[in-house]
Amino acid sequence: MCGIIGYSGHRPAVPLVLEGLEHLEYRGYDSAGVGYDLNNELMVVRAKGKLKNLSEKFQGERNALTVTCAIGHTRWATHGAPEERNAHPHLSNSKRLAIVHNGIIENYLEIREELSQKGYHFASDTDSEVLINLIEDMLSQECDLLHALAAALKKAHGAYAICVLDREDPQRLYAARLAAPLIFGQGIGENFIASDIPAFLAYTRDVVFLEDGDILVADSDSYQLWKSSDLTPIQRPVQQIQWSMQAAQKGGYRHFMLKEIFEQPKVISDALSGRFEGSRVLLSELDALPVPKRLHIIACGTSFHAGLWGQHLLEDWARIPVQVEIASEFRYKERLLLNPDQDIVLVISQSGETADTLAALRMANEIGVPTLGLCNVLGSSVAREAGAVLYTQAGPEISVASTKAMTSQMIMLACLALYYGYRSGNLGVDECLQNIDRLQRLPLMLETALPEMHSTARLLARKFSQSKSFFYLGRGHCFSLALEGALKLKELSYIHAEGYAAGEMKHGPIALIDPTFPTFVLAPHDVLYEKIKSNIVEIQSRQGQIIVLTDAESDLHGVDIWRIPSLEGPLGAFLILPCLQLFSYEVADYLGKDVDQPRNLAKSVTVE
Ligand code: AGP
Repeated sequence: MCGIIGYSGHRPAVPLVLEGLEHLEYRGYDSAGVGYDLNNELMVVRAKGKLKNLSEKFQGERNALTVTCAIGHTRWATHGAPEERNAHPHLSNSKRLAIVHNGIIENYLEIREELSQKGYHFASDTDSEVLINLIEDMLSQECDLLHALAAALKKAHGAYAICVLDREDPQRLYAARLAAPLIFGQGIGENFIASDIPAFLAYTRDVVFLEDGDILVADSDSYQLWKSSDLTPIQRPVQQIQWSMQAAQKGGYRHFMLKEIFEQPKVISDALSGRFEGSRVLLSELDALPVPKRLHIIACGTSFHAGLWGQHLLEDWARIPVQVEIASEFRYKERLLLNPDQDIVLVISQSGETADTLAALRMANEIGVPTLGLCNVLGSSVAREAGAVLYTQAGPEISVASTKAMTSQMIMLACLALYYGYRSGNLGVDECLQNIDRLQRLPLMLETALPEMHSTARLLARKFSQSKSFFYLGRGHCFSLALEGALKLKELSYIHAEGYAAGEMKHGPIALIDPTFPTFVLAPHDVLYEKIKSNIVEIQSRQGQIIVLTDAESDLHGVDIWRIPSLEGPLGAFLILPCLQLFSYEVADYLGKDVDQPRNLAKSVTVE
């Protein structure tokens, strides 16, 4: 959570940092701030609320345009309410140092107490202000800021990505990371440090991914990395980022979410590209690992739903028993029933930084079970720490609500099921070829269907946007999609929604049905079609309103029947999911909600 950026170069730093923060706003958006040195005084400008409130503070401000080094922050509150005084940067007591911080210092109260006894005072409720004063305190004992920083980081426990500015050396940035992402961008005569690449992608594609325990010191022309434990200098490879800047912009769409929904045909073809050779699925990343006897899929939120969907295919095509677990539950189990000789743990995470998922991955690594990461962000913690990685290649997902990332995860899970099915001999050549062909036809099918899906979503959204609650029902692989449909509706429009296995309705939830309580039923014409038809009748006979998402084959008729092209089997999910996304998008937009940045949320949940 929270986005940080630092710049040292030749351009006006404040507008550049504000522009960078726009690309990081998805990480947190309850307050923001910028810090820089002006005539040997550290200036800190902060504002509560969205970034535009901060930008407004710079209107007509000419002095700020002269500086060429600055740090910035966009916040998702952990310690201290989202008030201006808790916004970053925070200054040290002497006003010599300023810090932007993403993460949590767990022992900050203890350190705060110690510092208070030494006479330090605090203007905010944050752990970050404690950290910058700890660094300042260390500076009085150490020879320079680098040593003071290393000494302070030894004392502070928790997670951090920080960037520090020093009034005595105002063109230099000091940065460090532990369990929170931080990326260095190397330009010509300018250098960048940020929580995510889009923050500086307009200026450079050459990046260095900092690792846990790294300290970086950079000015406009040079940089140096150190191990924070003993300050030995280290080298990390410079990597070239292939994304275009367009990928991180709205490209004419009203919102990133809509753009990302419409990108899904391309996301599918990108994820499939180079993965097939005849009837074989090529996942060379996994060739060294045995086919597991049991697979544990661990994830949070939408990634968890993708895992639940993948379970169907892995069990059906590859005949591998799969257990899907929410990472925050898995990580606190007293007994982990994992068998290092037979099991594989697969963690799914778009960001690769989700704290609970990462903790689960580390536990599995510690036990010695082979681990596999399915993630989107290159160089993320999951990507670096998992035994093997499958990248989903969905490109940057900016909207807080995950859409194309889920689709790309599902594509890779389908490939994984085919790959294991083929390797274990459970799938014959013909079955493989048939499913590969279906997968390859998906991009065009979806691309053709999307405009009409969007129009229908818009019409239905108008009709149902005043509802207070919603059920989403599905059976089989559609149960996971029902959960995702409900999650999308609640996170975007703040309408209460619950996803249920349709067969569970009569075990209690049906009591809620009345003419004001609509149900969104996923009813593809598959083996469970007749079963779900019975559920529809049960709701109708209690005067419940229903939207039925079905396909061309179905014989359902009625008012709100939403028909999409038919696609046999679980791959139909790739046409169902975008409808759910579009419906939630349209409801939220119609209600005037902040679609890309819903309240209380942040894109990557790097705290527990
Ligand atoms: C979904 O729209 C949410 N943004 C959220 O549930 C998300 O999927 C979850 O926080 C997991 O994130 P990850 O995939 O980056 O680990």
